[in-house]
Amino acid sequence: MFKLSKLSLIQPFKPVSLLVWLAIALWSIGLGWGITHTLEAIAASPDDAVSARFEAGKELYRETCGSCHLALPPDVLPTETWQKLLEKPNDHYGTSIPNLIRLSQLLIWDYLRTFSRPIPTKNDPIPFYVAQSRYFKILHPRVEFTDPVTHKSCIVCHPGVKSFNFRTLTPQWDDAP
Ligand code: HEC
Ligand code: HEC
Repeated sequence: MFKLSKLSLIQPFKPVSLLVWLAIALWSIGLGWGITHTLEAIAASPDDAVSARFEAGKELYRETCGSCHLALPPDVLPTETWQKLLEKPNDHYGTSIPNLIRLSQLLIWDYLRTFSRPIPTKNDPIPFYVAQSRYFKILHPRVEFTDPVTHKSCIVCHPGVKSFNFRTLTPQWDDAP
């Protein structure tokens, strides 16, 4: 299994002709555009202004990671959690994530790492459940969670979860001070 952390390593320089580089660059831009446009047509919630650069990753994330359970918003867990989960699709809470091809993996990773934060202190454990996540707590200053919160309970207070909208709240919370 490859490590995502290695992906950004710069390859040692080899004298490849400028034309080859240009072709590769144009091809990747074209590919990026194609995917983005196709997926934009399937289209996301209007609530979340995610720039076109991350739109494909976001849609792939929602498709790939929202089929068995709710696709959680990236900011409720630290970047390290997403990285570990993407690195080990075959060892996922006792099951395995099918159809996670390399390109989807890269686009999803690009989206998740951009919209999450790393764990601030070294040696802190990586949370694998929202209930253990510090960022989840920080995003909920008004809420005292009595029962352990899971992906199944978001809908209790967030009626828009199906359209990946975590901003709209039930009236009970909207009206509360
Ligand atoms: C084949 C089904 C399946 C797919 C596809 C899937 N998961 Fe999961 N996921 C699970 C199961 C099963 C659990 C454990 C749920 C539980 O304990 O209630 C889980 C739990 C999780 C949790 C913890 C949720 C919590 O309540 O704290 C996270 C985070 C998560 N998955 C992320 C992902 C990501 C990211 C992807 C896509 C790369 C993904 N999942 C795709 C089956 C899946
Ligand atoms: C008991 C009600 C409740 C539950 C359950 C709940 N939330 Fe929230 N959530 C809130 C409230 C209320 C806010 C607004 C912040 C505050 O007042 O604490 C919020 C805010 C958020 C935000 C920030 C939204 C923004 O403005 O950008 C995110 C993201 C979020 N919740 C995700 C989740 C996820 C994911 C789950 C399930 C794992 C979940 N919440 C479960 C009540 C809840």
